Amino acid sequence: MHKTLIAATLALLASLPAHAQERTPSGAASVKNDVSKQAEQIFRSSFRGDNPKFWMDRLEQDDAMRLCSQYRDNPPAKLRQKIELAQKATIRYPVDGKLIGDWKEGEKLASSGRGGHIGFIQPDAPMTPRGGNCYACHQLAKKEVAYGTIGPTLHHFGKLRGASDDIIKYAYDKIYNSNAFTACTNMPRFGLHNWLTPEQITHIVAFLVDPESPVNKD
Ligand code: HEC
Repeated sequence: MHKTLIAATLALLASLPAHAQERTPSGAASVKNDVSKQAEQIFRSSFRGDNPKFWMDRLEQDDAMRLCSQYRDNPPAKLRQKIELAQKATIRYPVDGKLIGDWKEGEKLASSGRGGHIGFIQPDAPMTPRGGNCYACHQLAKKEVAYGTIGPTLHHFGKLRGASDDIIKYAYDKIYNSNAFTACTNMPRFGLHNWLTPEQITHIVAFLVDPESPVNKD
């Protein structure tokens, strides 16, 4: 999604007529405003039909994003702590209070990177079910050979840490709102942004900790 937006913005920059730069004496700033306005228009029009309110809300920075941007993802310790506490307070749990679901469902969610693709390159049909795309950044089950390494390996997550209530809650909370533990991390805030439902998160928790899950097999 970001790549598409950046590509669209670059295309826009290249296509801006020269006179746009002469419109006001404050040149640079006004060009920037024109560009961001037009980029926003492209962004808005590219997800028509796919729950526009969901996406519009995502254009607004919340406090955590604003502070992380301001400090280039490296806020001073006190502020970092403040962000993490505030993010922790956002975490919501399933109504039945059960934090561990079905690992097979979790495996499907962790493996799927579809849902919410907008723009010109393989866009998803509106309302395509969304996945967690965990393999984009983590190794999980050994049988999946394609994975990213931005995040630490989660292979043997449950085997190494067990499946105590504390570990289950930690895994749930981390997936719901990663910034509750690591302010300004690259990991998305899946629950906070309603990308995954609390129930879906419980399935992914099971995928991480269930002894039968391929994550905990060799
Ligand atoms: C865009 C990259 C990215 C994606 C996608 C991503 N993560 Fe992460 N994840 C990270 C990074 C980076 C870290 C390490 C920093 C941190 O703790 O936030 C991390 C940390 C974690 C941790 C803590 C590991 C520990 O040792 O305690 C867990 C658990 C986790 N991720 C689970 C998941 C799951 C499950 C998914 C899919 C629903 C997922 N992540 C998707 C980047 C990502």
